[in-house]
Amino acid sequence: MSVSDYLLPVEYFCKKSLECGLLIESRQFAEYLSNNDELKYTRQEFHYPKNKALLEVDLNIVNGEDECIYFCGNSLGLCPKSLKSIVDEELAKWQECGQQGRYYGKRPWEHIDAFVIDQLAALVGAKPIEVVSMDSLTTNLHLLMVPFYRPTLSRHKIFFEEGCFPSDRVIIESQICSHGYDPKTSMIQAAAREGEYLLRTEDILQLIHEQGDSIALILFSGVQYRTGQYFDLQAITEAGHRKGCKVGFDLAHAVGNVELKLHDWNVDFAAWCTYKYLNAGPGGIGGLFIHEKYAFDKDLKRYSGWWGVEFKERFQMDNNNLPLIPGARGFVLSNPCVLAVASLISALEIFHKVGLIKVIKKQRLLTGYLEYLLKRNFSPGTNSSNYSGIFIDIITPEDVKSRGSQLSLIFSSSATEIYTEIKKRGVVCDFRQPNVMRVAPAPLYNSFVDVHKFIDVLTQVLLHLKK
Ligand SMILES: Cc1ncc(COP(=O)(O)O)c(C=O)c1O
Repeated sequence: MSVSDYLLPVEYFCKKSLECGLLIESRQFAEYLSNNDELKYTRQEFHYPKNKALLEVDLNIVNGEDECIYFCGNSLGLCPKSLKSIVDEELAKWQECGQQGRYYGKRPWEHIDAFVIDQLAALVGAKPIEVVSMDSLTTNLHLLMVPFYRPTLSRHKIFFEEGCFPSDRVIIESQICSHGYDPKTSMIQAAAREGEYLLRTEDILQLIHEQGDSIALILFSGVQYRTGQYFDLQAITEAGHRKGCKVGFDLAHAVGNVELKLHDWNVDFAAWCTYKYLNAGPGGIGGLFIHEKYAFDKDLKRYSGWWGVEFKERFQMDNNNLPLIPGARGFVLSNPCVLAVASLISALEIFHKVGLIKVIKKQRLLTGYLEYLLKRNFSPGTNSSNYSGIFIDIITPEDVKSRGSQLSLIFSSSATEIYTEIKKRGVVCDFRQPNVMRVAPAPLYNSFVDVHKFIDVLTQVLLHLKK
């Protein structure tokens, strides 16, 4: 079954509401959904933060509520409980046998990166030869641009979104400069239309169609960090290829959050971090994808290092024969941080056990429930008794296929004040200047009751600020 076969959230809630005789907006209905959630057990697999540990929470206001409302998995996912024991196993091995840990034990360090390949491949819709875990997102994008950004006098431009994450902008400018071109004349940016927040696919494709002959590389995000928009990666890739451009993606907000089919979509390359929806820990090891069609391409211009060399030759030390491993593993430069890979192993085990399809199925309902309650309570013109006069606009796409967990909110009144007040009441989410609050209930550890509590907090805050 594919995710597209599931009911849309509102249809699902109406059906369930009829079945159980509870109003969709009631706390009892949220409890009903939580009790019947097939993934309710996975919250126990994470350390879920407590209000008393959070600096900005006012314990007098939360009034004995133990757990916070953690809607920040789009920034940093929570710590899996199994992580410590897996990392501890590697530490113990180091303590007990020093360098010999490279060869022995459950996960010999010289092969540690092999332990995540199959699960990473499943998450991004790739073949094992196409993925690897290594370094960090920014570093990996640079390394991938070595073969895939080869500007020429007639084709030297990079096409990207105007509102991209700042790190991508810095990468793009520095790559252009390092090839001797000028960012002013080598960048093409897609922007939302006047008065709109989201990029229209037709506008992106039109720009590629019109300017593609001068574009060397298209570098887009998968899911936009500010708006939560999931771009049509397949359409962008096809349009780019039709014009002879290379196409790559920054999947920081997409991996573990939306369904990806990088191989089938013929994407040239992609990179991601693992500390957001994958829960591999702050600064966790990054990952990259390079399409199978390049796996045996000897002419690929790239930087290489000894860890990308075939294992049997790597330690011969005669410097005569240093063949690179075909595919993504040939991109690895150094031996990876074992503790970082161990963290990723524990995080991926949870996804593997559950399966991404179930995660996304719950996500659509969870975020759909949040959307339903936000609209019901805080849209202009609502007749909700709790309406404070401050309204909320959701700028994330309504179509569940064009978003992941995150909803991005804009307020008709000072968002910074609202943000400060909800933090005091135990909400952990984040704010992006100048005016966007991002809320992302994560299917693996958030519940429908969390969503309901969040709406209660927002209601209290908006009524409080109205006074
Ligand atoms: C969309 C996006 N791209 C790139 C980055 C930079 O990631 P890193 O610091 O891991 O290289 C981030 C970090 O949050 C991000 O959200």
